[in-house]
Amino acid sequence: MKKTSYKELGLVNTRKMFAKAVKGGYAIPAFNFNTMEQMQAIVQAAVETKSPVIMQVSKGARKYANPTILRYMAQGAVEYAKELGCKKPQIVLHLDHGDSFETCKSCIDSGFSSVMIDASSLPFEENIKLTKKVVNYAHKYDVTVEAELGVLAGVEDEVSSAESHYTKPEEVIEFATKTGCDSLAISIGTSHGAYKFTPEQCTRDEKTGKLIPPPLAFDVLKEIEKKLPGFPIVLHGSSSVPQDEVDTINKFGGKLPDAVGIPEEQLRKAAKSAVCKINIDSDSRLAMTAAIRQHFAEHPDHFDPRQYLTPARDNMKKMYIHKIVKVLGSNDKL
Ligand code: G3H
Ligand code: 13P
Ligand code: ZN
Repeated sequence: MKKTSYKELGLVNTRKMFAKAVKGGYAIPAFNFNTMEQMQAIVQAAVETKSPVIMQVSKGARKYANPTILRYMAQGAVEYAKELGCKKPQIVLHLDHGDSFETCKSCIDSGFSSVMIDASSLPFEENIKLTKKVVNYAHKYDVTVEAELGVLAGVEDEVSSAESHYTKPEEVIEFATKTGCDSLAISIGTSHGAYKFTPEQCTRDEKTGKLIPPPLAFDVLKEIEKKLPGFPIVLHGSSSVPQDEVDTINKFGGKLPDAVGIPEEQLRKAAKSAVCKINIDSDSRLAMTAAIRQHFAEHPDHFDPRQYLTPARDNMKKMYIHKIVKVLGSNDKL
């Protein structure tokens, strides 16, 4: 693909957006997208609520949809936002969990305005070295870089290991200073997917039978904030796994027993702190699946994708608006 700057595409990087969010006590939504319907719903929600938004693309999304198509979809998203009446859209195209310098470079060269280099599984010094290499390249093009310290514990990890996977507050100053990264993803108890905790880690609501997850490690977050005052912090794995969507999926033939996420009040609390980017992917998948399952159950004769993808898109849009207004507080911030 031809070398393109994100600036030509009308995209923005995260620098000013994060500074404003940290100061204002809210967080920017970072929604993953793989399909046109997700992209449309994200843009509609952001425009209607006058919210800045980060549209992020994972390695899996690049494989599923094709990197060129996704990049053009992001360009289309900016134009679509303008068409919907937003004069100056604040849209970031971000690489989620970049796993190598080459992937980050290829995204920067093709028009991404922000990249994540996720070297969190490497030893500390190697994480610094790779992150710094990406930062040096990205900053030449005014592209911002998210890095990660600490390991987002898979459920099994926290259960079986005596060692904590949380970010170590004593490492963050050295890491941020040596790498020059623009934001830092930390681990305080969130994790990816729709099963963030085992039933053994939760308590159970006697009336509903639903799981109540343990709280996030706000003490670790506080320590990190003390070490890096005003530095943009990112939370991955922040879907709430809405129980009404899980119930709809299960009612109409799905099987997601004991799916559980991060309670929204905890995300609200985090958004008011130095956490200024909150990643949400699974909730969009659940909203889409619930609407499609219900639609098929109620309209067994339908086979035109537009018939079932329309309610799916509407349900995702409703969810995105809810997150923006009721959880992250990024509405009316353009
Ligand atoms: O980091 C996890 C995101 O939800 C992306 O998931 O790799 O399946 O696209 P994915
Ligand atoms: P969820 O699986 O909780 O939506 O997390 C998404 C994420 O962190 C993307 O990087
Ligand atoms: Zn993630």
